Amino acid sequence: MKHSEKELLEKEKKYCSYGDTVHYLEPPKFFESCEGSYLYDKQGTPFLDLQMWYSAASFGYKNERLGNALKNQIDKLPQLACQYLHAEKVELAEKIAKSMERLFGEEGRVHFNVGGAQAVEDSLKVVRQTTKKNLMFAFMGGYHGRTLGASAITSSYRYRRRFGHFSDRAHFVPYPYCYRCPYDKKPEDCGLYCVKQFEKLFETEYNGVLDVKTNESEFGAFYVESVQGTGGYVIPPKDYFKELKKVLDRHNILLVDDEIQMGFHRAGKLWGLANFGVTPDIVVFGKALTNGLNPLSGIWAKEKLINPKVWGAGSTHSTFSSNTLGTAVGLEVMKMCEEMDYEKKVFDKGMKFLIRLKSLQKKYPKVIGDVDGLGLALRMEIVKPDGYAPDREFADHMFAEGMQGDLDTPKGKRGLVLDVGGYYKNVFTIAPAFDISEADMDLATDLFEQLIQRCLKKYR
Ligand SMILES: Cc1ncc(COP(=O)(O)O)c(C=O)c1O
Repeated sequence: MKHSEKELLEKEKKYCSYGDTVHYLEPPKFFESCEGSYLYDKQGTPFLDLQMWYSAASFGYKNERLGNALKNQIDKLPQLACQYLHAEKVELAEKIAKSMERLFGEEGRVHFNVGGAQAVEDSLKVVRQTTKKNLMFAFMGGYHGRTLGASAITSSYRYRRRFGHFSDRAHFVPYPYCYRCPYDKKPEDCGLYCVKQFEKLFETEYNGVLDVKTNESEFGAFYVESVQGTGGYVIPPKDYFKELKKVLDRHNILLVDDEIQMGFHRAGKLWGLANFGVTPDIVVFGKALTNGLNPLSGIWAKEKLINPKVWGAGSTHSTFSSNTLGTAVGLEVMKMCEEMDYEKKVFDKGMKFLIRLKSLQKKYPKVIGDVDGLGLALRMEIVKPDGYAPDREFADHMFAEGMQGDLDTPKGKRGLVLDVGGYYKNVFTIAPAFDISEADMDLATDLFEQLIQRCLKKYR
């Protein structure tokens, strides 16, 4: 017997924990199907998705080639304990390792797990084993997941508050968020003041991070996102990471690159950090590796950190770590990335979308404070009438109105799926499907404008 949405909501209230989700909308919305850039509700209303499951479904919903890879593996080898080998695991590891050689010029190995945060945990173990340190640097505004270890290096205290003392809580460093510079500087003439401030920490032992006599830091690694994801798709200045890495190298601190959200071409290049000319010691990835199908995540680390002599069997283990379905889809994703020039495609489309968003910003400077983008990681800051102060409420209203599914188009009613992020929860983090058409970019711009006009009328 099929239940109505009303009945299902009542059951959800009674039987579902709310703790494993994020309820942005009350009541949460049901969807019935999806295709390409669209989600469809029960009435068949198309919702143009500009977030693609926080960038996990970048290659489009119901991607046929990836669906077939999954179906073929279901028919061939749907299950296998990870103590045995299957071809797709090995071939996928090779492709990822070779991509690191290509983009970062380093040999290394790949280690699988199931979710992003679990892979972050694995990377923490590699850092701890290598450096014998359990303290990390991480960024203000950074997000690395919700397990205990990942929460310790994620900036929000809100995610730790109820769960006791985190003795390994990271030292959080300001991110180069130039639109709202934490040091009130201007990027044109700041001379990367933020890196200099970080560098100063190492000047004397009394700044709390270094024994200057032995050049030993109390911190093992710096966890970075090349473009901050949950933090609001904040893009750092071109030379930021190069300068930061010099400081880290001087004091033997590893660089861990969290590519869970920006990896697999979201920011143009296969790995987001490759836009910035530095080589990480460890890379963590997940999400779009399987386009949101059977989950798979993992880490890549330099050979010296992860070869079997130092990192033997069972260093971490999960029943599902290199599962056959996930590795089959991941392998197909990597094949697609090799065969098609996603780098060019994503940069081209990103530029076209950004031009449209910038023209919208020009038209509504009292609503949109900043738009920016790298590849198809695009951002739009919603601001108060002064043109700068963050307007979280207005962003929330736009988000909620988009979910009503009643925006007008010549082809009928449409919805717009958005995600709100950023330090002040006023940023639309825009991550469209890589195959989004120009017509859908026009439509997205038009739907944004309708949302702005509607919310101006209703709420300002
Ligand atoms: C940069 C980054 N790191 C880690 C995670 C955690 O991944 P997961 O939700 O798969 O545990 C996320 C998820 O949004 C992320 O964006």
